[in-house]
Amino acid sequence: MDKLLIDGGQPLSGSVKVSCAKNSVLPMLCASVLPAQGVVELENVPHLQDVTTTTRLLVQMGVSVTMDEFMNISLDPSAIHNFYAPYDLVKTMRSSILVLGPLLTRFGQAKVSLPGGCAIGLRPVDMHLKALEQMGAEIKVDKGYITAKSKRLKGTNIVFEKKSVTGTENIIMAASLAKGVTKIKNAASEPEISDLCMFLNKMGAKISGYGTDIIEIDGVDTLRGTRHKPLPDRIEAGTFMIAAAITEGDVEINNIMPEHSSAVIEKLIEAGAEITSTNSSVRVKMKQRPKAVNIETNAYPYFPTDMQAQMTALNAIAEGESFVIENIFENRFMHVQELERMGASIKVSNNTANIFGTKKLLGAPVMATDLRASASLILAGLAAEGTTEIGRVYHIDRGYDCIEEKLQLIGARISRKPM
Ligand code: EPU
Repeated sequence: MDKLLIDGGQPLSGSVKVSCAKNSVLPMLCASVLPAQGVVELENVPHLQDVTTTTRLLVQMGVSVTMDEFMNISLDPSAIHNFYAPYDLVKTMRSSILVLGPLLTRFGQAKVSLPGGCAIGLRPVDMHLKALEQMGAEIKVDKGYITAKSKRLKGTNIVFEKKSVTGTENIIMAASLAKGVTKIKNAASEPEISDLCMFLNKMGAKISGYGTDIIEIDGVDTLRGTRHKPLPDRIEAGTFMIAAAITEGDVEINNIMPEHSSAVIEKLIEAGAEITSTNSSVRVKMKQRPKAVNIETNAYPYFPTDMQAQMTALNAIAEGESFVIENIFENRFMHVQELERMGASIKVSNNTANIFGTKKLLGAPVMATDLRASASLILAGLAAEGTTEIGRVYHIDRGYDCIEEKLQLIGARISRKPM
């Protein structure tokens, strides 16, 4: 297993380009399973392990996947023959549950491994299953597998008890070809969901209300292939913004949609950063030690849980005391004990981390426990004195495109040590 080595203490400066959003690309790849006439093409897909795992899943179902040197992916589902998503491919990636709705729509049946628990919490899929049942599917969960059967799904009113990103996406995809109208109330409104809806509408779906908490899908009889460029990754963008702030650097983050990062930008301004934006870039300049800021995670447009670990790292070196409240996942503080190995002072009680900012972190051997936790360790390593060695970097490779190359370009001393 590779390790990342970081020699910290270097203010970052320069400009960096953000890739397309992982959490837009993954549902779109799964949507290629929907019964459509023609090929789906996605432009500039990021080079990520989760993309590789999803394409492997699609290939074993019979989707023909080709990729050019610009990472444009072409997905031809005309020879798809298999409605089975095996545990081996699903266990590493929870988003594989997103093939359930599309497979059921195409084959009238699907067998998909339960994604299982993961480091950040239990992450059940009960709301996905209940909503599909309301649309007429018969669902059984047995020996770790979900088996679903249905005739053509029927549009209905679905009220989610909690906002769920992939839950909303699964039902939108299933409802696109259902008979009649489906209304999802308390739908999630993350930008990646809107991006999926725009992509499906290009395929001929009739979806409205996305970006709000009521989404309406008027089922159509057929879909067609299309070409789409997924939106920029707001979590990668936010991670680079914090990289600038935590190293007291000056970095321009390009190819982004700043309005999708408003909650993070507001907190960085509160921490003392100077922010200048255009409609596709944000420049973050931090001239002094950041000030501690309180955050509370919640569904979009509030502070994203996927930026909580990174902001916790910033607070660990900030001036003052802060509280970080995690409202989405029950076990998303795994990075705290690793940050403590570097000298951070953090007390966790239930869903709240109380952070006492220390002036300096010291480089140490640490271990990545999940994707965003590993991003927080990289950020801490960039700010720390001495060398930080991060193990289990496969977590970071799941969701950050060429992270060390991009950081090197803005002056970070980071390298990969193959084991
Ligand atoms: N939940 C249920 N039942 C369900 C579905 C969700 O109780 O059937 C709960 C979850 O346990 C959680 C809450 O609802 O407490 C919200 O979870 P959600 O379903 O929104 O999470 P997700 O769809 O599994 C996506 C992202 C995550 C991101 C969350 C929250 C993708 C592929 N994944 O997960 O991204 O943290 O939304 O914004 O879109 C990441 O990129 O690192 C990542 C974990």
